[in-house]
Amino acid sequence: MRKPFLLVGNWKAHKTIQEIDSWITDFSSVSKIISQNKDWLTVAVAPPFPFLQYFKLKTSEIPVQLGAQDVSIFSDGSYTGEVSARMLSGLGTKYVFIGHSERRKLLNESATMIEKKISQAIKEGLIPIIGCQTIEEIPSNIRNFSVDQYVIMYEPYEAISTDSGFHQITPERIDQVTKEWMVRLNLKIRVIYGGSVTPESVENLARIPQIEGVGVGRISLDANQFSSIIRNLVKVLS
Ligand code: PGA
Repeated sequence: MRKPFLLVGNWKAHKTIQEIDSWITDFSSVSKIISQNKDWLTVAVAPPFPFLQYFKLKTSEIPVQLGAQDVSIFSDGSYTGEVSARMLSGLGTKYVFIGHSERRKLLNESATMIEKKISQAIKEGLIPIIGCQTIEEIPSNIRNFSVDQYVIMYEPYEAISTDSGFHQITPERIDQVTKEWMVRLNLKIRVIYGGSVTPESVENLARIPQIEGVGVGRISLDANQFSSIIRNLVKVLS
C-alpha cells in the first residue's frame, strides 16, 4: 500500500485577491491528477486569514483542503484581533499551522502558547501542523492526543527559503533527524518536512520512508510550480 502523503502550501503574508483568482485558474489543471490519487495524496493550501473564505468558495470544484497559518490561544471572546479555532472550523478549515519557526523566532511564540493553540485547534476538529526545529520544540501535550489528530513538521529555520534563494538541507539529514525523534519520543507520530521544497527536491524527500508529507512556502505561491510538485509526487509515489 502507498504511504499517505500530505502536501500543504503555506502562502505566508503574500497575495491579493486578484492574484488568488489567477492562482486558482492555473491550479485547476491538476484537479484531475489530485482526484485520481486521492486514496494516498492530500493537498492543502493555507492562504492568509482575509482570504480563507474566498479561497474555499473559489476552489469548490478542486480537491484542495483549506489550511490556516495560525490560530488564537483563546476561544471566542473579547480578544481584539484574534481568530479562534471555532471560526476557522466553521469556514471548513481542515489544517492549521501552529508554532511555525517564523512565528517562534520573529513573534516570540512560546511553548506555552503553542500548547494552548494545539488544544484549541484539536477541540474544534482542526489538525494542527506543528512546526518544530528540534526534538525539544515538540510540545509535550501531543501525548494527550491520538496520532491522527496532529502532524509534526520538521522545519529547520535555516532551511526556509529567503529572497536570496533556497537553502536545502540533505535528505540524509532529514532522514537521520526524524528517525532519531521517533526513537527518542517513543511515540507514534506523523512527520512532514518543510524548508525550501522544490519540484526537484520533493522527489528525494518523498522517498524517505517516515516522511509523510511536505510543507511548501515559496514554491506554493506559483500554481504551476506547486502543480509540478504534485506531478513529481505522483511519479515517485504512485
Ligand atoms: P519555503 O517555506 O518553502 O519557502 O522554504 C517553508 C516553510 O516555511 O516551512
